[in-house]
Amino acid sequence: MKKQFILDMTMLFVFLIVVGYKPLGNYWHETLGIVLFVLVFLHNYWNRQWYKSLSKGSWGLERKYTAAVDGLLIVSFLAVLLTAPFISRSYSLGFNIHFLEGIHKAGGALMLAAIGLHLGIHWAILKPRFVNGLHLANVSTAGIIVRLVVLGIVLGAIYFILPTGTRPNLNPSGVYIGMLGHLVDVIGIAAVSYFIQMHLRKLGRKAPAKPVR
Ligand code: HEM
Ligand code: HEM
Repeated sequence: MKKQFILDMTMLFVFLIVVGYKPLGNYWHETLGIVLFVLVFLHNYWNRQWYKSLSKGSWGLERKYTAAVDGLLIVSFLAVLLTAPFISRSYSLGFNIHFLEGIHKAGGALMLAAIGLHLGIHWAILKPRFVNGLHLANVSTAGIIVRLVVLGIVLGAIYFILPTGTRPNLNPSGVYIGMLGHLVDVIGIAAVSYFIQMHLRKLGRKAPAKPVR
């Protein structure tokens, strides 16, 4: 459980950086984008049971909603993944098919919305993991702040340890502001998705169907 949560949060963090693009510069967008592809493959491998169980059980409203959201996420992810090799500049394979850039960008924007919806559906799984997985149950607010400061120092140190030439050529304030803006979008969409799920669950109770997460 804990390793899944760490992967979930790492994917979310990397996604929020990658989707910003401009303050990051092309090289780091593509490099972190490739890292994200690998993380998403691992995440899907760990969740492979979901694909196997698609043909089993009954399809209540809540399950249909989950499948629609996951379907949207998978399609948008595939749009980004399959177009990347043909538009790449830093890892160019020699192709430069410009019309695919539009599909790639639209896929990225759709992925942001789909990740918000996906997170809202999984809020019930994520919430206890925040508390237990990060051992925050008995930690005071001051303790949480100290941990965040230590994390900030470690990330800053990693940044400055990198040789000058390989350091991300980024505009740090642009990256932070971009990430915060996208995080607010994701949380807002997640909240809406959570309420849709709760509503469908209520309706499902009136007309019972086996809920599958
Ligand atoms: C930033 C990104 C993402 C986050 C934070 C996230 C979070 C989660 C969480 C919390 C779960 C429940 C099980 C677990 O913890 O592993 C889950 C399940 C799943 N995720 Fe993701 N996910 C992300 C991206 C993706 C992407 C890009 C895909 C597909 C391309 C995907 C496909 C799935 C599938 C198929 C499941 C199992 C079915 C389900 O329970 O919905 N996820 N995800
Ligand atoms: C899941 C990972 C990725 C996501 C979510 C993503 C998303 C995006 C988004 C939203 C944009 C538009 C940014 C803007 O104009 O403000 C963009 C641009 C771009 N991406 Fe990605 N991307 C990912 C991975 C990659 C990878 C792996 C490559 C190449 C190897 C790549 C190559 C590019 C290029 C070349 C552009 C600029 C296109 C243009 O100028 O019209 N991306 N990406």
